[in-house]
Amino acid sequence: MRFFIDTASFDNIKEISSWGIIEGVTTNPSLVSKENLSLQEIVKKITSIIDGPVSAEVIATDYDNMLKEARELHSIASNVVVKIPLIEDGLKAASTLKKEGIKTNLTLVFSVNQALLAAKAGATYVSPFVGRLDDIGVDGMKIAGDIVEAFDYYDLDSEVIAASIRNPAHVEEAIKRKCHVATVPYDVLKKMVEHPLTDIGIQKFLDDWNKKN
Ligand code: G3P
Repeated sequence: MRFFIDTASFDNIKEISSWGIIEGVTTNPSLVSKENLSLQEIVKKITSIIDGPVSAEVIATDYDNMLKEARELHSIASNVVVKIPLIEDGLKAASTLKKEGIKTNLTLVFSVNQALLAAKAGATYVSPFVGRLDDIGVDGMKIAGDIVEAFDYYDLDSEVIAASIRNPAHVEEAIKRKCHVATVPYDVLKKMVEHPLTDIGIQKFLDDWNKKN
């Protein structure tokens, strides 16, 4: 499973990419709004240090303006993936962008039906929001796993990004469900590194070493 980082913070991306484990970035309008730069400036900065796919989302919800924004975002850098909400105009825009060779990430996906439609429309990535499904009492990771199985069974090319990840347990479940990618927030990535036995182990090694040296 590949790891993307789910943030628009350049500092956070820079820090985590130094670990050598990040293969892409996803942003959304809420994440971009937390920063003091425009979407275009943020995408430019991120793509200057990340070679992998960088998802940037359209604000428009109608076909013509989605296409306009998508083409503008893609003109910033060739590794920009355009994030499009899973609505009727979004499907239409995704299928047009596929013909133009522009990669898309169909977002706000909450069901296997929506995911199948996205894949048929030519989405490069499909992002089920597992945390938001959990929030309403639906097993989000089960839906993500069902989508992976359906894509595999029907031999569809779209990749599943487990999104709206809230904790390290979500990431472990995404691995078990064979999601192609998990897009993980900064704080969850930091928590994934930590284990109390690692800290205790380091302390014990140092104590033993210092007794003899
Ligand atoms: O990648 C989608 C993600 O940013 C949404 O996460 O926590 O706002 O549901 P959340």
